[in-house]
Amino acid sequence: MPEFVEIVEMGPRDGLQNEKRLIPTEEKIALINALNRVGFRRIEVASFVSPKWVPQMADSAAVMAGMTRAPGVRYMALTPNLKGYEAARAARADEVAIFASASEGFSKANLNCTIAESLERFRPVAEAARADGIALRGYVSVVTDCPYDGAVAPQAVARVTAELREMGCHEVSLGDTIGQGRLERVDAMLSAVLEEMPADRLAGHYHDTAGRALANIEVSLARGLRVFDAAVGGLGGCPYAPGAAGNVATEAVAARLGALGYDTGLDPALLAAAAAMARAMRSGQEGTAE
Ligand code: HMG
Ligand code: MG
Repeated sequence: MPEFVEIVEMGPRDGLQNEKRLIPTEEKIALINALNRVGFRRIEVASFVSPKWVPQMADSAAVMAGMTRAPGVRYMALTPNLKGYEAARAARADEVAIFASASEGFSKANLNCTIAESLERFRPVAEAARADGIALRGYVSVVTDCPYDGAVAPQAVARVTAELREMGCHEVSLGDTIGQGRLERVDAMLSAVLEEMPADRLAGHYHDTAGRALANIEVSLARGLRVFDAAVGGLGGCPYAPGAAGNVATEAVAARLGALGYDTGLDPALLAAAAAMARAMRSGQEGTAE
């Protein structure tokens, strides 16, 4: 039996959040409904952040109300504070995510506060999620390189990971937000983070700006990670990370993992159809695949 590796689909959230064109809610719902059939266990579909900061995600509640919920799929949403958490709970998110930064520069740009302040804001979110029985994921951004502060020390990533673990995150996803991570730096970062969190509770979240995301996934596999975030059609970027091109494309990750002998449980034809739809959304046409 080939070993299972989970790809967590990011397209509807990380993929779309940076698109210039305000994408109609129905198009987002159509993409999620197409993704529903591919075989994902988790799809990040929404982000309950300030609509002034990320206008593209302002219709998150409507997206979650309108999408079809497929059996066996868990729907995730970003929640930067208690206000966002309450909206995510009302929208029936199965899993919520708090997102911290390993650098002060990116924390300020993305969350308008220091790392310490962001962790204080996340604490009540974590407590509420625990009380409500909603799974909590954590992200650490800029795990190797920050667009504002430059190189990020592995220990800084390990420290924030430990804080998120202490808050009750069942998993921490490590973000190469601007896709500049060199293999040896990703490896050194993982080595430090693994002192704080076991590999089976870590995910790799690599943007593909410099074309190294697949290689960084291989480095992470060698370190024992078995969960990777990706977005269909390579959609994406972060509005507060200049130059952050797309997330690594789900179809490329699935193909590479398949070639390496892993099972992702994804249907290649349905994945290709969803990727075509995502690419059409990026170029501004309405999606063609269902
Ligand atoms: P702020 O301006 O410091 O916060 O923003 P505030 O508390 O002063 O609130 C300002 C306004 O926003 C107020 O409205 C609040 O009510 C409202 P006003 O009184 O001006 O009308 N507000 C909200 N509205 C809706 N939902 C909320 C919410 N919170 C406040 N949850 C804040 C602080 C955190 C809100 C802001 O900085 C923010 O929304 N940041 C999110 C930025 C973001 O979404 N970035 C992209 C996602 S992270 C990412 O992509 C990285 C990742 O993929 C991993 C990786 O690649 O590294 C995860
Ligand atoms: Mg990201």
